[in-house]
Amino acid sequence: MADGRWPSGSARFPFAPFPRGWYNVVPSDQVQAGQVARLHLLGRELVCFRGVSGAVTVADAYCPHLGAHLGVGGYVRGDDIVCPFHGWCFDARGENVDIPYADRVNRRARLAVYATRELAGMVFVWFDPEGGPPTWHLPELAELDSEDHLLVCPPEGCWRFASHPQEVLENVVDVAHFKFVHGVGAFGGLEVEIEGPRCRTAAEVTFTTPRGPTEGAVVSELWGLGFDVVRQRGLGAPACGVLTVTPVDGIQVEARYMFVLPKDPATSEPTRYGKGLIAEFMRQIVQDIPIWEAKVYRETPSLAGGEGPIMEYRRWARQFYPEVQGQAPGACADVAGG
Ligand code: FES
Ligand SMILES: [Fe+2]
Repeated sequence: MADGRWPSGSARFPFAPFPRGWYNVVPSDQVQAGQVARLHLLGRELVCFRGVSGAVTVADAYCPHLGAHLGVGGYVRGDDIVCPFHGWCFDARGENVDIPYADRVNRRARLAVYATRELAGMVFVWFDPEGGPPTWHLPELAELDSEDHLLVCPPEGCWRFASHPQEVLENVVDVAHFKFVHGVGAFGGLEVEIEGPRCRTAAEVTFTTPRGPTEGAVVSELWGLGFDVVRQRGLGAPACGVLTVTPVDGIQVEARYMFVLPKDPATSEPTRYGKGLIAEFMRQIVQDIPIWEAKVYRETPSLAGGEGPIMEYRRWARQFYPEVQGQAPGACADVAGG
């Protein structure tokens, strides 16, 4: 992997392409009541549809009957989806509830459906490569409950590039890169707190503000390898940026940014601070992408003192992969002095 040859495709990373967790699959407003969206994510063809009740369902796209793609001509009836090929109808649990030319339904014809959750203007699904049910849930975002805040999902805040969710989110614990890639050099110590599927990091930072340098922190909460909430502490108004990363096909990922920001009461738009936060987070990810696309994964990296959190993060990440012969992929060695 690290001998100079370019490791292509799924050979690029020594861990499975689709770790277990919650993933953003589509913005909620792209699936209005009665609409069907065709998705290619998580190494499969999916459909997302919204019934008349407003309930959203994500299912495998290929019809259990003769394999038509439900996202190509399939349509919504009530809260169910109808296949374009022979009119079989499936409900939100994936059960066949009607065959227009037969007396009985086919109980064995089941469409695989995914647990879903709508949060911050996006539809999330629980994905387990072994097919298990959710074992944990995404957090509530307190800022969303506040009337003084608004949700912003910038249409340009979506990128596809060749990488892996574990690689993208490793950025959070890689404090040194902030100076060299982003020109943000004022980081102090990094604290890491791990609890089950959550990895919380707090990096001390000196913010440059119009009122001069201000001591604060950037607090990041990872929930699995697909969801990161970032908050800046010490700047007054609460706000958060949510970065989601979804594996597409084992080669590419799709990353999106959403923001919950203080609202300017005069304009009902984000405050100047909120607009600045959007611009800064978007600027940073655009700087990271070329690095992520071109890099390799060093299983046993040479680290400097103070970079131990990188290995702590990697050990935490192992829980999201299926066990392989008694050892999880993504296994990594400890470093001295890290
Ligand atoms: S393939 Fe879907 S109804 Fe026949
Ligand atoms: Fe970065």
